[in-house]
Amino acid sequence: MASVTFDKATRLYPGGTRPAVDKLDLEINDGEFLVLVGPSGCGKSTSLRMLAGLEEVNEGNIFIGDRNVTDVPPKDRDIAMVFQNYALYPHMTVAENMGFALKIAGVGKEERAARVLEAAKLLDLEPYLSRKPKALSGGQRQRVAMGRAIVRQPQVFLMDEPLSNLDAKLRVQTRTQIASLQRRLGVTTVYVTHDQIEALTMGDRIAVLKDGVLQQVGTPRDLYEKPDNVFVAGFIGSPAMNLFHADLVEGGVKFGTATVPVDREILADTSSTIATIGVRPEDITVSPHEGEGLAVEVDLVEELGADGYLYGHSTVEGKRTDIVARVDGRLHPNAGETVYLTATPNHVHLFDAESGERLSDKAVAI
Ligand SMILES: Nc1ncnc2c1ncn2[C@@H]1O[C@H](COP(=O)(O)OP(=O)(O)OP(=O)(O)O)[C@@H](O)[C@H]1O
Ligand SMILES: [Mg+2]
Repeated sequence: MASVTFDKATRLYPGGTRPAVDKLDLEINDGEFLVLVGPSGCGKSTSLRMLAGLEEVNEGNIFIGDRNVTDVPPKDRDIAMVFQNYALYPHMTVAENMGFALKIAGVGKEERAARVLEAAKLLDLEPYLSRKPKALSGGQRQRVAMGRAIVRQPQVFLMDEPLSNLDAKLRVQTRTQIASLQRRLGVTTVYVTHDQIEALTMGDRIAVLKDGVLQQVGTPRDLYEKPDNVFVAGFIGSPAMNLFHADLVEGGVKFGTATVPVDREILADTSSTIATIGVRPEDITVSPHEGEGLAVEVDLVEELGADGYLYGHSTVEGKRTDIVARVDGRLHPNAGETVYLTATPNHVHLFDAESGERLSDKAVAI
């Protein structure tokens, strides 16, 4: 097992105008499950492929443990990769598929069989070892792909959207299985997904990328409670955090007719009179006092049993602004009504209106 270090690792594709991955600095601890997440095209696969040795590193270095692997061929890096299209060999049985890389590596028949059996037990694949892939369900095939990686006993697992071929229900089951399997094996894992829920549920830590640039690295809780900038704030969490411009006033920030108190130090830190305010749907409440807070016209309430989500709109700085608030699933306002919403003090995030950077740690008291 080993740690992984990206040291200002940069990839500029030939003919590209800006790097697909730009000076990536990231340290992944030994045994850690790190999730790389971000929208399509942000450089997740490129980062993973650089670590695998499948993509050239134009600047910077990559280390596995203390070893600089920047120029080491993929086969000598001691990693195993699970791809989105994990194409199994159709003419081989499950056991042969799982043992194939070992055979190529010259591992003897008996040891191969033992390692395949061990992995099959871990993955509940023992009953299927002599079947061909076409006689397996999607989830079972996905586990065979995992098995192929596990039998190699690598220092690092790399996984690039390994669940995207599965249907929604199977994805949820399989993500739990992968996360718990990784914890049992304790093998350092870099896992790529564009799905922030997968990232939040699976990762020890999450690294958020945008346009090839690392935005923030932290535990799921760090990212949820203290996003470093507007992008992370909007990307992590579902429904997304409400984000809009608001006036900074004496003692706080304007939220409709109400003022949400904000630490004086933050207000003193910024020369601006306007900020981007961020409030999660669960930190917004329907005000019991008519006229207090932000006037919102209700467009729709989505009932989800105990909870519901109120989708509405308001006018902020003359612009229509959509707002989402969590409400009681049974007792809630109805579409067409106008309600006043307030934000829970100490759960309001403030960002610089121009740069989008978090104004201070202290905006949210945890
Ligand atoms: N072989 C290539 N040649 C030129 N440009 C490439 C190549 N591969 C990827 N890119 C570009 O590099 C950027 C990052 O691509 P990458 O595949 O790393 O994104 P991603 O985050 O994995 O996206 P997705 O979620 O869609 O898989 C994109 O703008 C993409 O168009
Ligand atoms: Mg990709």
